[in-house]
Amino acid sequence: MRTLSDLLVESRIFSNREVLSPHFTPHKLLYREREINNIEKALAPSLKGERGRNLFIYGKTGTGKTSCARHVVEEVKDLPNAKARICYVNCRIYNSRFRVLNKIISDHIPTYAKRGFGAVDLYEKLTSWIEEDSKILVVVLDEVDLVKDLDDLIYTLTRINSDIRAGGVTIIGISNKVSFKDELDPRSLSSLYETELVFAPYYATEIYAILKDRANAGFKRDIVDDEVLHFVAAMAAKEGGDARLSLKILTRAGELAEENERAKVTLKEAQEAAKMAENEIVYEVVSTLPEHQKFVLYAIAVLTQSGGSYKKLTDGVDTYLFSGEVYHRYKSLTEGMRKEAKSERWYRKYLSELEMQGLIASFESGKGIRGHTKLIKLQYPAKKMCDVLQREIFGQPKDSEAKLPEE
Ligand SMILES: Nc1ncnc2c1ncn2[C@@H]1O[C@H](COP(=O)(O)OP(=O)(O)OP(=O)(O)O)[C@@H](O)[C@H]1O
Ligand SMILES: [Mg+2]
Repeated sequence: MRTLSDLLVESRIFSNREVLSPHFTPHKLLYREREINNIEKALAPSLKGERGRNLFIYGKTGTGKTSCARHVVEEVKDLPNAKARICYVNCRIYNSRFRVLNKIISDHIPTYAKRGFGAVDLYEKLTSWIEEDSKILVVVLDEVDLVKDLDDLIYTLTRINSDIRAGGVTIIGISNKVSFKDELDPRSLSSLYETELVFAPYYATEIYAILKDRANAGFKRDIVDDEVLHFVAAMAAKEGGDARLSLKILTRAGELAEENERAKVTLKEAQEAAKMAENEIVYEVVSTLPEHQKFVLYAIAVLTQSGGSYKKLTDGVDTYLFSGEVYHRYKSLTEGMRKEAKSERWYRKYLSELEMQGLIASFESGKGIRGHTKLIKLQYPAKKMCDVLQREIFGQPKDSEAKLPEE
């Protein structure tokens, strides 16, 4: 156990941990010139005082959307004489129409903020502020899918343009949710998606270069070998080209080296850190599963873990379950919770969804094993999966020693 005074001793591994944090926005954004350029192009009319076209940016997590948007926001703020006022809103925090309007007002008309006004007052104040000298207001809504009354927000912001005689509002929406489009009202959809910009996942070579830059600034000299960076980059590329994940793994590897009083960060620490990160991702996926898929997965985890009477196949390494028995277990689990089990047809659908998420694998048994049946194999350690699902389903792990990996 390290004491406080140990923690205050200068690190032998890190020179500037701040730089490695995923919240840090680097000055130099690699491989995103085209994207930054496209955002600037979309903003150019607004900067000249004309109404621009709304822009929608999407791409998987950790592909640099926030970093690029913030970079452009800072550039715009620094421009002399620009007609536009820009407001960056993190919708994870400002997650309703009222909160977004309030945020815009407190950024730009601070004297009016915090007076307990309602949405109508805020709207009127905002429109008159825009109109007074024909401003163009650019609102960047990051993680826009998290706004609870998004259709209302989009409607309100776009309505400003028809309510005023001079000036206007341009919206830049950002999201990493693929199914987001399907949930929007068609009217919001057409105004938000006037122009689209997609951020592709990073390749391993790109993540490597991003990591290299950060490692040079964040670690002491010669502490991290190139093979470590290559390994972490490959791992993050495989997990969806996520630069944030790569930074998390690298930092974790550095922490492990420090905790174990190593002189360098080696492949060993990197592998261990990657394993921890992989588990975290799995448990995030599990926590967002629909209820009955959780039940099915729980039945699989419990049966995989239980020894004894339950008949299953094992080749000494892996355990395969019979689909029919998993269904049986799922049914008794739902009954125990006084819920109605879904039909077998639904059950098969759940299985294929769990398989698509990479949580289980299934095989046709071929003839011979009880006629013809489906065999199921859990792709992650059963004990951990049981613990996580117990917490998800029952609110806490049944046995007290079970712990989730730390964030
Ligand atoms: N091109 C890049 N050059 C340098 N660092 C980058 C680049 N792209 C991303 N990063 C780093 O990766 C991390 C995640 O990037 P960012 O937050 O921009 O991703 P995002 O696309 O907004 O993800 P999410 O959808 O989860 O919000 C940040 O720490 C950022 O510094
Ligand atoms: Mg982001």
